[in-house]
Amino acid sequence: MCGIVGYIGKEKALPRVLSGLKFLEYRGYDSAGVAYVKNGNVEIVKEVGKIVNLENKINYSEETFMGIGHTRWATHGVPSIINSHPHRVGKFTVVHNGIIENYLKIKEMLINEGVNFISETDTEVIPALLNYNYNKEKDILKTIEVTLKELEGSYAIGIICDDDLDNLYAARCGSPLIIAKDKTGNFIASDVPAILSYTNKYILLEEGEIAKISSSNVEVYNNKLDKVEKEEMIFEGSQDSAMLNGYEHYMLKEIHEEGKVFSETVNYYVDGNSFKNTMPEFKDYKNIHIVACGSAYYVGCIGKSLIEEFANIPVTVEVASEYRYKKNFYDKDTLVIIISQSGETADSLAALRKAKEDGIDTLAIVNVVGSSISREADYTMYVKAGPEIAVATTKAFLAQATLLSLLAVKLSNKLELLNEFVGVEKYIKEILDKDYKKYANVIYTHNDTFFIGRLVDYALCLEGSLKLKETSYINSVAFQAGELKHGTISLVTDGTPVIGICTDESIESKTISNIKEVKARNAFVIYITNNDIEADFYDLKIVLPKLHKLIMPIVTVIPLQLIAYEVAKLRCCDIDKPRNLAKSVTVE
Ligand code: AGP
Repeated sequence: MCGIVGYIGKEKALPRVLSGLKFLEYRGYDSAGVAYVKNGNVEIVKEVGKIVNLENKINYSEETFMGIGHTRWATHGVPSIINSHPHRVGKFTVVHNGIIENYLKIKEMLINEGVNFISETDTEVIPALLNYNYNKEKDILKTIEVTLKELEGSYAIGIICDDDLDNLYAARCGSPLIIAKDKTGNFIASDVPAILSYTNKYILLEEGEIAKISSSNVEVYNNKLDKVEKEEMIFEGSQDSAMLNGYEHYMLKEIHEEGKVFSETVNYYVDGNSFKNTMPEFKDYKNIHIVACGSAYYVGCIGKSLIEEFANIPVTVEVASEYRYKKNFYDKDTLVIIISQSGETADSLAALRKAKEDGIDTLAIVNVVGSSISREADYTMYVKAGPEIAVATTKAFLAQATLLSLLAVKLSNKLELLNEFVGVEKYIKEILDKDYKKYANVIYTHNDTFFIGRLVDYALCLEGSLKLKETSYINSVAFQAGELKHGTISLVTDGTPVIGICTDESIESKTISNIKEVKARNAFVIYITNNDIEADFYDLKIVLPKLHKLIMPIVTVIPLQLIAYEVAKLRCCDIDKPRNLAKSVTVE
């Protein structure tokens, strides 16, 4: 969701701000803009659509040494030049990621004070309120402190004030923001990839903190304006890990990293037949709630299946946007697990905070190191997926499934099961090396597809269906195989693609019966199985290796991801940045 990059230093600012914004494209956006200082004045350029449209309006050689840039994912008001950031009122120019929930109240107050607004955005109230408060406070830091206290919602903001063009200001509450330094100056950014071309060292702004940044100095203050010391963090991945590296798309590159991701996740927690101390010691919980959004919710459904089967602990899986508002039945014997690739998803973060407020133990399963969810949970377990750039999650899903499977072993106390995790990388490679174009050729001309499976295979159907929808814009529905005939089978007609998944022998005959029901209605069936039988109930088949139940769901997702990728490619979709979507959903 919206991306922020700012630079102040000895080098020209615009090339650095624009290149940083390009590394944040994966977050999703529909317009972009920059503000920079030229001859003592703040200039603003904005454009709708891709960053290249903005670049066409910009003179890169501009002698400017301070600038802030922004990619906007529209929430309040359509994508338009006026609604794009930066927004400027009086002496203040602002870029913002997040939502100001009380903006209407603030806007009304300021309109009564004679302030004129030109956009439909919530963001415009920030520079307006800063400017209003500055007229009283006269001091920039004090003005920011007072203004932030009046804002409700979530924000990361970059600020330029006309009265101090030697400093860039930044603040954060609820949305991530980092500050990085290279030998030429300082940056602010929403995420690490934006600064990796220049440095891998950065500091994270914490909730409520305000930063004053010059070309040579960074001062960070808490919400009472006391100075705070910040710990420098080092991003461990290489620049390559955040770049395409010869692949046509990040999604494809990230899928092909899955063998390594599996092994790195296992090796981080396991040493031979025992767990390392990176795996927390848990007390005996009587029940578990898994809370997440989107794919992270679906991987939670896999976790439920594995934890219930191997550890005998009942698990409920809940969508975070519901969980945060509903009545939850938990107590001191409940563990709430929040799963999130980004660690910044607003609803997942709110669900975590709610559970913590109620005194419930929380465990975060997160990919992005130092993210809000990782820092606020009682226990944090990182998956070792590395930076994931494509909006559609793939390798992080596989890493989360791997970690949940390890967690099932941990909670079961049956350490001998760890043997099942040995040698899996070679099977992942075999699955990755197959050609999935022939399946995509069947699907890509259709408007509807179905995924059917039972139990853990149903969780995979949910993920396969979501991958297809988000990357290729084909409508797709996932069903528990036995449930389709209770209404939805009426949508199956001649040639409708149905992907049937069965990786569990104990329910194989039942799933096959359901597949036969759609085959009898002339569906085109792609059967995904780990039991290579010749039969006439499918048109095409994908045979997976027969691995242990703890491993099967981890590898079964790979063909689903690659089919979605190939279909999206055939349909010429914007694979890494699907329309309307954002990588990190920091608004509720
Ligand atoms: C998956 O491909 C999606 N882009 C989306 O469903 C995602 O999994 C969801 O928004 C949750 O994000 P998180 O893991 O960063 O919390």
